[in-house]
Amino acid sequence: MIANSPLPHLGGLTPTEFLRDYWQKKPLLVRNAFPELAYRLSPEDLMELAQEESVEARLILEKGKTPWELRSGPFTAKQFKQLPKTHWTLLVQAVDHYLPELADYLDHFNFIPNWRIDDIMMSFAPEGGSVGPHYDQYDVFLVQGIGRRRWQLGQHCDDTTPRVQGTALRIIENIDTHFDEELHPGDLLYVPPGLAHYGVAQNDCTTYSFGFRAPALTELLERVADTVLEQEGRVLASDAGRSPCAQPGLLTIDDIEQLRAQMLTLLNDRAQFAQALAPLLSEPKYSDYEPQGDELSPDEILAALANGALLRRDPASRCLYTNTDTSTDTSPNTNGEPDTLYINGMTEDFPPRLAALVRLLADHRHLTAEQLAGWQDDAEAISWLQAQIALGHWFLDAD
Ligand code: SIN
Ligand code: CO
Repeated sequence: MIANSPLPHLGGLTPTEFLRDYWQKKPLLVRNAFPELAYRLSPEDLMELAQEESVEARLILEKGKTPWELRSGPFTAKQFKQLPKTHWTLLVQAVDHYLPELADYLDHFNFIPNWRIDDIMMSFAPEGGSVGPHYDQYDVFLVQGIGRRRWQLGQHCDDTTPRVQGTALRIIENIDTHFDEELHPGDLLYVPPGLAHYGVAQNDCTTYSFGFRAPALTELLERVADTVLEQEGRVLASDAGRSPCAQPGLLTIDDIEQLRAQMLTLLNDRAQFAQALAPLLSEPKYSDYEPQGDELSPDEILAALANGALLRRDPASRCLYTNTDTSTDTSPNTNGEPDTLYINGMTEDFPPRLAALVRLLADHRHLTAEQLAGWQDDAEAISWLQAQIALGHWFLDAD
């Protein structure tokens, strides 16, 4: 259990301590947290990615046609050549979707559940490049790649914080700096949601942003309400035992209270919450995302594993499981094993006897032949895996 082990990339804090004292509350700077990550992807690699049709990329020019000009990708090599020497930033979202080995770095934050992950964004900026002082809705671990970036952190912001006008970016007018540090390759800075931050490249610099989303409660509520409507149909309010009213024109507080109580009773079904929330939270980041599967025979799967291939979860898919049998029961089973598996908004059936395998697959980004050893002689397990690989949810990576 890592919960109480000090982690070097959290500056020696345990996950329990970090979550208690920092997560969603205050920033944390850790020097040299991920020294080997810094050189993983070069600016050239990033610029190549930003030329792909399917990749979400943006360019921000501080002194563009307008102040803080925002351009959307994909971009061409020519466009990159025409950029000024300084004061611009290239941002590429979801680099983890294209580079499973980079996605593996998310394992360092495995003490936060997968459904909270947004993506790994990566930026490149020459000297002076910045996206301006701003705040995000998400929790983010910023990891410095190459070069140096000066980070200033400021006040807690919200919708009322004054913003710079005339730009599509949400740049705040003032940052009340109380933290001012230069990050070097491999340094990590955790920034909680709502905290003003302003990073300026001191020279050619890349930054990896491990972003964690928080779903909007209103969106969750909408989904729960839809599920209740589907499952309960039209349930009418009841007012048996009502007292005579003295003001027939009045909608009384008591009536409102009674309706509220009955509506909350209708909503107050834990099984329905799981059935509503799990598919929503497993929807992929990009709604048009379609996994590409491989048709492999069981023998091909076993041979690839024997030859050292890793079984990888598709990094662009979202996968989670619940351990509550939502159709019959509302209490979690005691062994933590999945009752229902959700991938990209859909439930994926599996034979109940494979629950431990499903857990292994859904809890890990990749697995070795050794980790799968107990399942390789199990024809039903390999055949289920074969179907999953064909759907593109997992793939064999021989590199
Ligand atoms: C950047 O990488 O330049 C910006 C990251 C952020 O502020 O969230
Ligand atoms: Co930010």
